[in-house]
Amino acid sequence: MDSVHSEPEESQQSAAVYPMRLQKFLARAGIASRRGAENLMTAGRVKVNGEVVAELGSKVDPLSDSVEVDGMLVEWGADPVSLILNKPAGYVTTMNDPQGRPCVAELVPTEEHPGLYPVGRLDRATRGLLLFTTDGELGHGLLHPSHHVHKTYLARVEGLPTESDIKQLAEGIELDDGITAPADVVLKDSDVETSLLQMTIHEGRYRQVRRMCRAIHHECIDLQRISFGPLTLENVVEGQWRYLTEKETEALQCAVGKQC
Ligand code: URA
Repeated sequence: MDSVHSEPEESQQSAAVYPMRLQKFLARAGIASRRGAENLMTAGRVKVNGEVVAELGSKVDPLSDSVEVDGMLVEWGADPVSLILNKPAGYVTTMNDPQGRPCVAELVPTEEHPGLYPVGRLDRATRGLLLFTTDGELGHGLLHPSHHVHKTYLARVEGLPTESDIKQLAEGIELDDGITAPADVVLKDSDVETSLLQMTIHEGRYRQVRRMCRAIHHECIDLQRISFGPLTLENVVEGQWRYLTEKETEALQCAVGKQC
């Protein structure tokens, strides 16, 4: 993982890091995506030390230059960044895979936000909502069992689970690392060979949903996470990411007992 801790403190950053390209500066300051920042520049909306800078290769030193967008001073390094990735199947949840497999780091803007890391994991075959943040405290809080952050999955399983199977999943089922906590489980539909279960769990054990399905003898053949706490996959197609809205950021802070 490219951890937050590998990023030097602002005051210690060397001349090798600064100056940096203006669009990178704007993206890292949370103003816009790299592409959005380029658009702001070419539209003449960005000034450095009072002068409009529209040329995309232009450099800036965050420690000594004053940057404005639409007349507003841009603060450097103040705000942490969080985003949602809609992870496709086939990607490992790691920021660096020594085995060279496709990994989620390839799908998120690590250059603009070097401290970005995934909050929890989805296994390689699982698709759906994966939160990334540069805010270590928030990420840690969201994974802490005391906050009971719920996660909802759609699990396509082989065959048709009985009412008794679903009751077992919902009430708690024995896995090799202990009985699972109560979950919400709904049979959404079924066809000749498979069924779709919607499962909301409050734990985050290794391959938990797949193991729960296996425990009732209905192998999971496709798994998608559709929500994580207050976050959903709204407005983010598979393979793409988007920043959290202000409302979503507030809701996450609330989920870890900060500001509500
Ligand atoms: N449960 C699983 O089985 N896999 C995941 O990736 C997440 C939850």
